[in-house]
Amino acid sequence: MKKVYIETYGCQMNEYDTEIVKSVLLKENLIFVDSPDEADVILLNTCSVRENANRKVFGRIHKLRYLADGRPLQIGVIGCMATDFKEKLVQNPKLPIDFIAGPDSYRNLYKLINSTEKKPYDITLSEFEDYADIYPTRVKGVNAWIAIMRGCNNFCSYCIVPYTRGRERSRSVAGILDEVKQLVREGFPQVTLLGQNVNSYNHDGKDFPYLLEKVSEIDGLERIRFTSPHPKDFPRSLIKVVATNPKVCKHIHLPLQAGNTRILDMMRRTYSQEDYLALVDDIKSHYADMVFTTDIIVGFPTETEAEFEDTVKVVEKVQYDSAFIFKYSVREGTIAQKKYKDDISEQAKTERIIRLNEIQKQISLKKNKAHIGQIHTILLESDSTKKSKNEMQGRNDGNKLVIVPKGNYKIGDLLQVRIKKASAHVLVGEIVS
Ligand code: 5AD
Ligand code: SF4
Repeated sequence: MKKVYIETYGCQMNEYDTEIVKSVLLKENLIFVDSPDEADVILLNTCSVRENANRKVFGRIHKLRYLADGRPLQIGVIGCMATDFKEKLVQNPKLPIDFIAGPDSYRNLYKLINSTEKKPYDITLSEFEDYADIYPTRVKGVNAWIAIMRGCNNFCSYCIVPYTRGRERSRSVAGILDEVKQLVREGFPQVTLLGQNVNSYNHDGKDFPYLLEKVSEIDGLERIRFTSPHPKDFPRSLIKVVATNPKVCKHIHLPLQAGNTRILDMMRRTYSQEDYLALVDDIKSHYADMVFTTDIIVGFPTETEAEFEDTVKVVEKVQYDSAFIFKYSVREGTIAQKKYKDDISEQAKTERIIRLNEIQKQISLKKNKAHIGQIHTILLESDSTKKSKNEMQGRNDGNKLVIVPKGNYKIGDLLQVRIKKASAHVLVGEIVS
């Protein structure tokens, strides 16, 4: 019986896929182990979204092979790097990779692991694969990821995802509801609905706001989160559900990518700066304290300093609680790679990212400090990751980490907490009930 160790890189969809992979292989009686030293098979569930995600994995593969020191070991690359680099990964004699499988090929993993072929691969993308019949092997905790759709049809010019994950497909409402009911029976108080663009969820004419409403009707479920909605098609009905449904968290991750309309056009985002700001205003008019977070790319081809200032302007206007900011990274095969030269210097990208991160940090700090004295409901999720034995941590409705002293409480409890202290990244509170 082979022992398998799996490492996950990239987004929440990959975290979820790792749980699918575990179910597929457990069914074949393989065993999962917690350390690469004990493993016969090491799977790296990889990400291709930026160059440094790739680099990290290549470094890791060489290190794992070196540490194995000649011991028999199969290394498999699965996930987005498999469909991005394709057979090059197994054909390059310098890469110690034994097999590869793309995001739609996990049902064939057992076959690939036991194949008699030299370096087998399966990188086929499917229009239909949704793994709906496979119940993921989740680690017990507070949040359960659940993919409501797979793939992406947007083809933003910088993005590799449509090529690595294929065409968009949605799971059935009934299947999703059954899975959430089962999760509640297992004790998960929170689910996060995942999709590359949840706003294009569509199954038999049922859209995302409908699905969200239906999920919220499930008894025993406390909190619902979702990620990510595309700003181009954010329906009114979704604003209403998020603003009014008590189970749906008041937090929207709304990827901006850039604040300048010419750059947004080149990115093929199909909204302007004005459209984005109008959407945010509209949402705030329904729920003034909505928490916004975002993704931003700096240094897209031809972005001038003045155009970058438009991104700064939007960041200052929206007042995000936090933002993930990235330097533009060329992805082979994307529209931007074919059409535009990566002409913004590394130095300019670095200056822009530092500047924007600093501005965002001040906004986060200011917003967090404004919470001092308020009472927040937090869902207790674990011991403090800051290694303090006397503290636990949870998240408030806006998804912010809140540290509290340890008491007689258990993971999954909903607690009322008075906020006492704040930094740019966390809140510290005392439990009031
Ligand atoms: N370069 C830099 N950042 C990128 N992202 C996606 N593609 C690229 C790229 N080529 C960022 C986007 C996306 C997040 C997941 O990664 O901001 O929302
Ligand atoms: Fe997730 Fe995109 Fe990375 Fe694939 S490339 S793992 S979809 S972030």
